[in-house]
Amino acid sequence: MRANLIAGLDIGTSRTCAVIGEIIADPRRPGLTILGVGQARTGGLRGDLVTNIEEITESVRSSLEEAELMAGARVDRVYAGIGGDHIRATSSMGVVAVAEDEVTADDVERCHIVARAVALPPDREMVHAIPQEYRVDHQAGIKDPMGMAGVRLEAEVFLVTAAITASTNIRKAVNRAGYRVQEMVLEPLAGARAVLTEDEKEVGVAMVEIGASTTDLAVYYEGKIQYVAILPFGGNTLTADLVRGLSIPYAEAQRTKEQHGNAFAQMVDPRETVEIPGPSPGQHRAVARELIAHILEQRLDEMFGLVQGELEDRGLLEHLGAGIVITGGTAAIPGIVELAQQIFASPVRLGVPREGLAGLADAVRRPRFTVATGLALWGADRFAETGRGASTVTSGVLTKLGTWLKEFF
Ligand SMILES: Nc1ncnc2c1ncn2[C@@H]1O[C@H](COP(=O)(O)OP(=O)(O)OP(=O)(O)O)[C@@H](O)[C@H]1O
Ligand SMILES: [Mg+2]
Repeated sequence: MRANLIAGLDIGTSRTCAVIGEIIADPRRPGLTILGVGQARTGGLRGDLVTNIEEITESVRSSLEEAELMAGARVDRVYAGIGGDHIRATSSMGVVAVAEDEVTADDVERCHIVARAVALPPDREMVHAIPQEYRVDHQAGIKDPMGMAGVRLEAEVFLVTAAITASTNIRKAVNRAGYRVQEMVLEPLAGARAVLTEDEKEVGVAMVEIGASTTDLAVYYEGKIQYVAILPFGGNTLTADLVRGLSIPYAEAQRTKEQHGNAFAQMVDPRETVEIPGPSPGQHRAVARELIAHILEQRLDEMFGLVQGELEDRGLLEHLGAGIVITGGTAAIPGIVELAQQIFASPVRLGVPREGLAGLADAVRRPRFTVATGLALWGADRFAETGRGASTVTSGVLTKLGTWLKEFF
């Protein structure tokens, strides 16, 4: 009999990934015993605007069912990722007068409300309002202001908003698949939860999560989230380059990239060749693996250049003492770390979910599971804070309606 199950659901443009785990309570940072994972291809997402709810619903259902089968338990709710170029993130300050001599929970709550009270257009909703730090009178950089003496309390809150159409479509697909969204979490923040350490966030780090159609960026220093961005390029661009460069169909190009690709041409033996389809059906021809690597390297070079430009423009590069962490499905390409090291001229490592995981942790130890695992870990954090948000299993049978009713009344 399992209790307190958490599910993370990452609806990507190329596939939907589900991760189910049981919470490991740890006062420093909660973890998960991984029980099940599932994946399904998605075809209905274009640039994160859900164009085909039926297809997405099907991918949600089959990825979660696969994960549930593996886990031997069912879940009733998920922590769902949200991304796409409609996302906006900003910092907002709230200021209140401290009611008594020292700061109370009530003051903090009022301060959060003030910081969150920004005007939102009718087509947008708030996804996150994350308190970052506080200032009491003239003392800044306070993580927990409770009990401090002062007259003026300020809170810095990181606000993330999304287009309502995007979040509505995610909810719709999840509901139709027979589940419920417990919370929406911004994909780059979920990814960072899975692959960045608290030390790295303190020293300064940029997570670069390269998926199929987007590259997510999350920058931390001084223990705070400083910047997130969702850039409109990813592994699909690499595949499209191979389609053009090798004159082969998209599916072949994708397979060639995933099986024979390399991001750093100088790592490839120039004499090595691979078979690709020839001009007429049934025919094959040999191409140098080095040529494939050249095509991929050129494009990745440009993509990393854009990431670097983004970091530079915002004055973030100089804060990255711990360097760059690369993850996401495209990070599985060999040589990507070497290439990134050369471009960023700073420490670069591959990020895969590892810390705080037990059980079938091997199943998620791949860069494409970063966001789904991060979503489940986010849920574990929430549960540790509030005691809510888990799928409860009683006597091996999930009482979907029962838990829902209990929360409702
Ligand atoms: N071994 C590999 N080498 C190169 N690319 C790979 C490899 N394995 C997977 N990919 C690429 O990773 C991408 C999928 O990554 P991921 O699953 O993170 O994307 P997604 O979440 O569906 O997309 P997005 O986050 O952009 O919506 C695809 O472009 C795929 O071709
Ligand atoms: Mg993704």
